[in-house]
Amino acid sequence: MKYASQKVAYWFFASAILLLSLQIVYGFIMGFAHLGYDGWHSVIPFNTARAVHTNLLVVWILLGFMGSAYYIIPEEAQHELVSVKLAYIQLISFLAVGVTAIVGYHLNYWEGRKFLEIPRPLDWLVVINVLTFLGIILATLYKGKKRTTTSLVMTMGLVFAALLYLPGMIWFDNQTMDSFFRWWVVHLWVEGVWELIMGGILAFLLIKLTGVDREVIEKWLYVIVGLTFLSGILGTGHHYYYIGVGKIWLIVGGIFSMLEPLAFLAMALFAVGMYRKGEKKHPNKLALYWTLGTAILSFVGAGLLGMAHTLPQVNMYTHGTLVTAMHGHLAFWGAYGMIVFSFITFAMPNLTGRKLYDTAIGQLAYWLTNVGMIGMTIAFGVAGVAQVYLERKVGLEFGAVQQEIEVHFFILILTASMFATGILLFIYEFFRFGKPNNEAIGIEE
Ligand code: HEM
Ligand code: HEM
Ligand SMILES: [Fe+2]
Repeated sequence: MKYASQKVAYWFFASAILLLSLQIVYGFIMGFAHLGYDGWHSVIPFNTARAVHTNLLVVWILLGFMGSAYYIIPEEAQHELVSVKLAYIQLISFLAVGVTAIVGYHLNYWEGRKFLEIPRPLDWLVVINVLTFLGIILATLYKGKKRTTTSLVMTMGLVFAALLYLPGMIWFDNQTMDSFFRWWVVHLWVEGVWELIMGGILAFLLIKLTGVDREVIEKWLYVIVGLTFLSGILGTGHHYYYIGVGKIWLIVGGIFSMLEPLAFLAMALFAVGMYRKGEKKHPNKLALYWTLGTAILSFVGAGLLGMAHTLPQVNMYTHGTLVTAMHGHLAFWGAYGMIVFSFITFAMPNLTGRKLYDTAIGQLAYWLTNVGMIGMTIAFGVAGVAQVYLERKVGLEFGAVQQEIEVHFFILILTASMFATGILLFIYEFFRFGKPNNEAIGIEE
């Protein structure tokens, strides 16, 4: 760390991991409900728990991205953030909107649009907030000495993510139209512009951790950006198969979404390749493990498990079942959860000046979270396949099927407990680093 303003990243990371732990609490409420223990129902019904779980997920990932940007951009641009005060205001107001939305869900103040449950009036506050964030980033880049490919790819991802939020705010009375544009946010985020943010963070980490030349690493970024756009944009069609739009989407969606894993494969090959090529002298080995783990698990969770249900012939049966939850968990965790964790693991020693590299607790957190999440994915997968068969082949009624598959949620709770223990250890380790400070890293106040 070279710039005092980078310290603001710490508070974004601290908020992110605390919201993640709240997300997990709601995950358990749903897990137990699936197992047949739905005692909370009158206070927190399943739909509320689900909206809170998934919205907290998006909020903490975005906080992780913002924190990473506040760390990366000054270093890449060689310039302090233009306003640290504004960055703190932006954090606090972002949290305030998030908390308001989540309290609202418990009071039935929500829109029943999966992932975009946040009511439109609050959307406007999100827009103002994100504009402030982008303003700080863009102004810093503008004033900075350098504009590197890494910082530009990351910034491009952040700007496009903000723009793509807008189509989701248009009001439609027509369900098909509403669904059509909802995917511009949900799909084009995770299978489009967020991949650019991830690619940028990945490149930054690999430059720092492997010691391979920037030129080599940044060349790969062009390949990743190219593959992402080539496949991801028209790949949106895999959500249009049976929503009431033209049949052409069966072909377009099928073909282009089958190509989407290529971008994730490129990221995995890229990270492993740079790891093998580099001198690996950096002492923060755990950050390197997280980085490699991200590249590999994102390929499995997003690429392979996405591909598993992306053809129209398959999706006709699996749509909206626990097969989707199987893929949703490993894709979100493997790509975006893990890239944020990689970055936090890399940044903490630099922010605080404490060289707690490669500790036993840190390693245990790594293995428990990742093995736990793979276990959860398998549990969801087995439950999902049973659900598809009973509900859509045999023709049993939805509720009856849910009862039949309750037994699979025992393993889900078990593996989720493993995952949650890993997260608790990670959080413990995070706070053991202490607060960020200038003194420890030799910056004059
Ligand atoms: C350890 C704790 C967790 C448990 C017990 C848990 C459990 C659940 C359950 C039961 C559902 C609802 C499935 C349904 O609709 O029937 C769900 C949804 C979801 N969870 Fe989790 N979860 C946990 C952690 C996470 C984490 C860490 C992530 C992401 C990094 C995540 C991402 C998601 C997503 C994306 C959905 C929506 C899936 C879909 O659209 O079908 N969850 N979770
Ligand atoms: C990191 C990247 C990815 C993430 C975080 C992710 C996450 C998700 C989530 C949360 C859903 C449920 C959305 C909803 O119903 O509102 C979903 C659905 C879906 N994803 Fe992904 N995904 C990723 C990449 C991919 C890729 C690369 C493919 C294809 C190769 C894919 C194929 C699908 C399909 C076909 C569905 C629809 C499932 C259904 O009909 O219920 N995903 N994904
Ligand atoms: Fe998609």
